[in-house]
Amino acid sequence: MAVSRQELEAALQELTKALEGFASQAGVTPDQLEAFRVQYVGRSGKVTERLKSLKDLSMDDKRELGPKLQQLKGLFDSAIGAKQRALEAEQDAKTLSDSGIDLTLPGFPSPRGRVHPLTQVLDEMGRILGLMGFSWAEGPFAETDYHNFTALNIPEHHPARDMHDTFYLKEFPLVLRTHTSPVQIRTMEARKPPLRIICPGRVFRHEAVDATHSAVFHQVEGLAVDESIGFADLKGTLSDFMKRLLGSDTKIRFRPSYFPFTEPSTEVDVTCFFCKQKGCPACKHTGWIELLGAGVVNPNVLRAVGYDPEKWSGFAFGIGVERIAMLRLGVRDIRLFYENDLRFLEQFDENLV
Ligand code: DAH
Repeated sequence: MAVSRQELEAALQELTKALEGFASQAGVTPDQLEAFRVQYVGRSGKVTERLKSLKDLSMDDKRELGPKLQQLKGLFDSAIGAKQRALEAEQDAKTLSDSGIDLTLPGFPSPRGRVHPLTQVLDEMGRILGLMGFSWAEGPFAETDYHNFTALNIPEHHPARDMHDTFYLKEFPLVLRTHTSPVQIRTMEARKPPLRIICPGRVFRHEAVDATHSAVFHQVEGLAVDESIGFADLKGTLSDFMKRLLGSDTKIRFRPSYFPFTEPSTEVDVTCFFCKQKGCPACKHTGWIELLGAGVVNPNVLRAVGYDPEKWSGFAFGIGVERIAMLRLGVRDIRLFYENDLRFLEQFDENLV
């Protein structure tokens, strides 16, 4: 049945009143709310019906009453929504108070983790060498006697074995690797030259533990093999590496040394990055700090992995991570790195290194 404009206007007023009454009503139950919704804006609710009946009006009336009805429908929806949210909040509050949880109690702060200072230094070294074109290689801790010694030109009964206080495993010929140099061998066995790698990692020596010695420590090994690599390449690489690691004014110097796997071999000192060579306890007033071993790869090592020493040559170096970390972070006892005492570890935020 068609509806007149007057009727609709009256209905508008009546509905507005109903809405006002509902909105000002204090406590509604979920059931009452649902009943109200169905009664007014449900599929055949009063507002819905009125909206449907708009079609019977003249164009002008539609233009005038249509928006009003639409607006009223919007008001109904938001009033119902508001009551709905109020009911939910009430319910949440009840659940919370029933549960006995006291939200006013202070929380337990969860401590922030940090990267171990040694890992920070090791990562920094890896990052710099990575930028210089070296890629990471890894090897096992339990190493064969062959990789740890023989292939590195340290045959059985060679006196150089005494330089390493080795942990021998029951499953001989396995040993705990005494240096990261066996990873040089493993990498060369697995890959063809040219290559440029670093092998960072843990090494083990049967040593008495004191402030500067630990039975477990870390090294970063470097190896470059290519055609016509020589001592000058080693010098340039280490000089650049040390400048980036310790400061752009760092200089290096070489002292002759001996390692079976390099010829010539050298120990490398850097200018003291504490006193800038004025003399201090860290450099024992010499202005220089002894930092790493290095050299030109011994042809016997290349032969052991099947590289032709007439065609290929290389340089290698090995650096102790703890020593650098101790110097850079001002740590005087190496044992502190392994005790995992939070009072120690908490002092080293990532940006310290
Ligand atoms: N492997 C030696 C050590 O543990 C360090 C070293 C010296 C590594 C010279 C090298 C090197 O690669 O060329 O004492």
